[in-house]
Amino acid sequence: MARAQSRFVCQACGADFPKWEGQCRSCAAWNTLVETVVTARQRANRPAARGVTGAVEAVALSAPADGPTARLRTGLGELDRVLGGGIVPGSLLLIGGEPGVGKSTLLLQVAGGVALADGGVLYATGEESAGQVRLRAARLGLGSGAAADAVAVLATSEVGAIIEAARARRPALVVVDSIQTMTVDELDGPAGSVGQVRESALRLMELAKGEGIAVVLVGHVTKDGSIAGPRTLEHLVDAVIDLGGERGGVMRLVRASKNRFGSTDELGVFEMGESGLKEVADPGRAVLADHEGAAPGSVVAATLEGSRPLLIEVQALVSPAGYSNPARRASGIDPTRLALLLAVLGRRAGVSLGTHDVYANLAGGVSIAEPGLDLAVALALASSLRDRPIDPRTVAVGEVGLLGELRPVSGLGRRLREAARLGFDRAIVPAGRSGAALAIPGIQLVPAANLGDALAATLGSVRRPEPKPPAPVGVVTVDPGSPVLG
Ligand code: TYD
Ligand code: MG
Repeated sequence: MARAQSRFVCQACGADFPKWEGQCRSCAAWNTLVETVVTARQRANRPAARGVTGAVEAVALSAPADGPTARLRTGLGELDRVLGGGIVPGSLLLIGGEPGVGKSTLLLQVAGGVALADGGVLYATGEESAGQVRLRAARLGLGSGAAADAVAVLATSEVGAIIEAARARRPALVVVDSIQTMTVDELDGPAGSVGQVRESALRLMELAKGEGIAVVLVGHVTKDGSIAGPRTLEHLVDAVIDLGGERGGVMRLVRASKNRFGSTDELGVFEMGESGLKEVADPGRAVLADHEGAAPGSVVAATLEGSRPLLIEVQALVSPAGYSNPARRASGIDPTRLALLLAVLGRRAGVSLGTHDVYANLAGGVSIAEPGLDLAVALALASSLRDRPIDPRTVAVGEVGLLGELRPVSGLGRRLREAARLGFDRAIVPAGRSGAALAIPGIQLVPAANLGDALAATLGSVRRPEPKPPAPVGVVTVDPGSPVLG
């Protein structure tokens, strides 16, 4: 019965087959066949399309809109900002993150926030029992009260049951935790298989668009950072929000990697505490809290994501590699970027690390991919190699080019004002127009045209051939919780 309704559709060419095969016989692509409900799809598509627009007719761009849709406030300002001002009714969101990072916690808090401001919420979970969710809610201060009354918990892994409950209760928001635990009756595959994930998401999209109910899907992220399940999920949804951070650490960063209703470069900062995620009013201070005194290998970078400047301590540890291949470990930093910086340091700045183990990470367990971070990473490596600290009240900002030149970064003023506010008094910045014209009270600007200049300004004379006994080996005292030791 169930089998008769499903076909295996090639995701590359669209050919469909009655049985699964490893290779598509039509286009020869491997592992592209996905079990798909054909009949249900055709039945369901049409009414849904009518539901969205009211009538299937072309309309002029200038035609009067349905009116501005008020967004649902999540009650978490940091998240609302990342979303572009809250959740758009009728939209489909995907929140991704590694297991244990706090997705369920975040969404239960969001459920409470939306329930308080905008009406009912259906929290469907295939991961926990209703009792477990209630325990967590109590911990989050959502055990009783008006918000708790307005959040209904549904422990199920059947998409059909969720849709039925949503149609009956008509909540403003449906949370589905997680999409990998959901199944559609007509499909044979297990929960988490590509076909189930895709079909479940499609049906929940129909619910969102057809009924005007916002739906948030939770998605587990695999080691390589992609949201497990089909890639198709990412272009199906209106926004993809990533929740990142280290499970052991307290910092959690929220970013949108896709957003149809806002920008994708906003950053939200949270702290995981005893009673859930708390917005960090002053992320600069939170991240730098454990930064004290001068240690070789430590440099503070003035980064910027969206409108949010964030000062981050880069830590590097460099030590001779012995006989084996030297290790390169990066945490919070793009490893290919680290490799490039090592090459540029060696070839353009006389800081050769080819026979050293190199570890680099960002304090606080955060990860940042921003070109402005380059200079701080390079300086931290050189500082560790020379075993010489860099003045702890100096910040560094700049992108490093292949020739060792420092390239300007966006929003220099905003970064430096944040640095001044946090008590830094000196900044190594790329030389050039943007830097020269800038005057930030309390900050002495040190423009550097290239890595050599920046090294000279922070570590003293460099670029001499290394003296005969090689430069002392950097040893940094690293706090025991740091992943450098792990
Ligand atoms: P969880 O939301 O279950 O993660 P996910 O859904 O992404 O798998 O969060 C799990 C971790 O968060 C867990 O290790 C405990 C921690 N936690 C807190 O520190 N404080 C809290 O108030 C809550 C609810 C969880
Ligand atoms: Mg969870």
